[in-house]
Amino acid sequence: MAEILAVGEALEQALALLEGGDVVAIPTETVYGLAGDATNGVAVARIFEVKGRPRFNPLIAHVADRAMADRIASFDPLSAKLAEAFWPGPLTLVLPHSADSGIHPLVTAGLDTIALRMPRGFGGQLIARLGRPLAAPSANSSGRISGTTAGAVAADLGDRIRLVVDGGATPVGLESTILKVEHGKLRLLRPGGIGAGEIEAVAGAKLSRGASGIEAPGMLASHYAPGAAMRLNVENVAKGEALLAFGGNRAEGWEHAVALRNLSEVGDLREAASNLFAYMQALDRSGAVTIAVEPVPFEGLGEAINDRLARAAAPRDKIA
Ligand code: TXA
Ligand code: MG
Repeated sequence: MAEILAVGEALEQALALLEGGDVVAIPTETVYGLAGDATNGVAVARIFEVKGRPRFNPLIAHVADRAMADRIASFDPLSAKLAEAFWPGPLTLVLPHSADSGIHPLVTAGLDTIALRMPRGFGGQLIARLGRPLAAPSANSSGRISGTTAGAVAADLGDRIRLVVDGGATPVGLESTILKVEHGKLRLLRPGGIGAGEIEAVAGAKLSRGASGIEAPGMLASHYAPGAAMRLNVENVAKGEALLAFGGNRAEGWEHAVALRNLSEVGDLREAASNLFAYMQALDRSGAVTIAVEPVPFEGLGEAINDRLARAAAPRDKIA
């Protein structure tokens, strides 16, 4: 079983494992990441192996600072402005990849672009000490909910990895927003921890939406599926269902729910995002056959929350 060490005492051991080509689960501000040295093909392959990913989807390379990012990719003016505004933080930029970056090709899955992000806190410190970027998808088995606590990560992956670094519950609670500048225009490839409005305010332009086919192969329909079926935007709770609630008004029949979690009593979308995965997991563990979900508004982080809920509710035969 993986050892769980608090951030304050984990740095040296995490470094030693990464130097040896092993993987380590680390906290970031979004979700826990399953990190490996992005320049080491064996380490990157280990990531796919541990996650049980059926396909080599491209991974995000995490950097410690802009200088490291500049050695890997080239920044157009708009991407530079966004990095300036939101790094370190829950923003991933897809950029043209420099041929001599040292990044192992498994990280980019053969694309000539690379997804880069600069995490806050422990992840940033670890990368700075290692002196090399870390590839880190969310720390969960393929098709399972992303881990937002060390306990959830250890329960899912603990028999396959040596170390989980415990930084407490991740503050944002869903993955980073992924953006790509194309012909001077900004495209949202994955909604996430930074709302579209915040990005548009900095960019001074509207985002276009909708990933084109290969752009976000990690966005499999039921990527976030719990074991239970999900019923979204409910107005009534049926017998035997668990209820994932939002805000102050309950769906009819809520008192019959076999289990109940409220994403945010006061209707705060940031609080809801940070609770989303943990509450889906908790309701899944209740043994209910179906999780009924109250409507969550689409504004701000609500877009990303609804995106994750829709994936969790997608037909299971789409799990790849
Ligand atoms: O918050 C996060 O972003 C977390 C934490 C651990 O940093 N990481 C994460 O990584 O969510 P992962 O591997 O689960 O998601 C990576 C996403 C996938 O949807 C993938 O398709 C997309 O990034 N991606 C990676 N490289 C890409 C590229 N060159 N072009 C388009 N999409 C890319
Ligand atoms: Mg993931």
